[in-house]
Amino acid sequence: MSDSAVLKSTATESELHNGVDRDDRQELSQHLSAALSDTYILYVKTQAFHWNIVGPMFYSVHKLTEEQYEDMAKAIDTLAERIRALGFVAPGSSKQFSEMSSIEEETGVPNAEDMIKQLVEGNEICARKLRKAAEVADEARDIRTADLLTERVGQHEENVWMLGSLIK
Ligand SMILES: [Fe+2]
Repeated sequence: MSDSAVLKSTATESELHNGVDRDDRQELSQHLSAALSDTYILYVKTQAFHWNIVGPMFYSVHKLTEEQYEDMAKAIDTLAERIRALGFVAPGSSKQFSEMSSIEEETGVPNAEDMIKQLVEGNEICARKLRKAAEVADEARDIRTADLLTERVGQHEENVWMLGSLIK
């Protein structure tokens, strides 16, 4: 390949012989893309509420959402890089994320209670979808993907508990 041809190469499916069938890896990369999309949309929403929260719960919600969006920012990278490691291409536009996510975006500014309810619901959606994906990874004997997804399920369940406790 000439020097300029190297610069023009783009990511495509790559071969991998790790003991997980190619079709299973493809299916898992689709589950991971959906998980990535949900995490991304929830990340954006969590950070926006971190900015716009007002009222007596300001400080606790502001602090808690910061921890959560920082964790999700790392998870987004981990999920996308797992898709690459499985041999496929990661989605990379907010349009794709929005289309693939089951979490509804918020363009207005809800009150504090509604913000927390939306974040609880978003984290529940993530936990449910990631658990399903972890089960698929388990069946395909892709232990690394199952491990990664299981870890994320636990984190979203913890987020539900912490956010929900604010409005109990
Ligand atoms: Fe901040």
